Amino acid sequence: MTIESVLRPAGPAAAAGAETGWVLIVGSALVLMLVGALLAWALLRRRAAGEQHDERRLVRRWVIGGGLAFPALTMLALFAYATARERAWNPLRTADEPVITVTAHLWWWQVQHRDPARGIDVTLANELHIPAGRPVTIGLASADVIHALWLPSLAGKVDAIPGRVLQLRLQADRPGRWQGRCAEFCGEQHARMGLVLVAHAPDDYARWLAAQARPAAVADETLAQQGWRLFMQQRCNSCHALRGLTESPSITAPDLTHVGSRLTIGAGARPLDRAALAAWIADPQQWKPGVRMPSYGDRLSAGELDALAAFLERLQ
Ligand code: CUA
Repeated sequence: MTIESVLRPAGPAAAAGAETGWVLIVGSALVLMLVGALLAWALLRRRAAGEQHDERRLVRRWVIGGGLAFPALTMLALFAYATARERAWNPLRTADEPVITVTAHLWWWQVQHRDPARGIDVTLANELHIPAGRPVTIGLASADVIHALWLPSLAGKVDAIPGRVLQLRLQADRPGRWQGRCAEFCGEQHARMGLVLVAHAPDDYARWLAAQARPAAVADETLAQQGWRLFMQQRCNSCHALRGLTESPSITAPDLTHVGSRLTIGAGARPLDRAALAAWIADPQQWKPGVRMPSYGDRLSAGELDALAAFLERLQ
């Protein structure tokens, strides 16, 4: 992943923000230079012999003109520009746009991708997949407190507020991966509430969605089978969904149907591999103190943790 910046946009929604940023920076710099020049002039100029103060003229020129009218006009002009620029990118919605809903939780992102035409409904954790080169609308909700989703290279921040669904419109101009963060302080693990946005070439997106729509399936291997037994014994399924393998969970935690195909664990806490999965299950608090996932290190042996991790890793 490259270093990301609001001033290096990867799509039209972010480009509007970057351009506005530059105009505001240059505009404020010009005003600062003007005020500095006036100050220097006032300090250095010599008063002509016999020149009189005309209080009323000075008040009119510098207090009303320079102190009230000038800042009001400048701010108004910049405000009008920023508002118009922000609304300039407003493409029409198409009927075949994927329906994506992001729900913020303490401290992870639940991401639902739906394709009503093909009857596909796929839920992931901490990964948002979109087709590149076309506008996408994301519905943003929260399951608990106020969070905010910020994808610096692609769009401005939008709050996730309990009981409301706010819209976030964005477009990635090319396929790639970008980082998202929670941008509203929401508790002790606010800093570890990362999200990866993956933009696919349009054909790849359809293929990816179809692959994710398959029910959970495990390759027929002894270690993974032992892991699957442990998954049910330890009642992991009371919180985590495995579409097609277990009943719906009673509490919402990340959907694990294709967890083996994900890039990170714990909303960006570590890259996902078998060792990281085993270490996470043993003690998730070591990477994310306060996380809602219980520790299993004192209930399971190292071998059992490895079997469970092997099972999850094979959920591709
Ligand atoms: Cu969620 Cu900060």
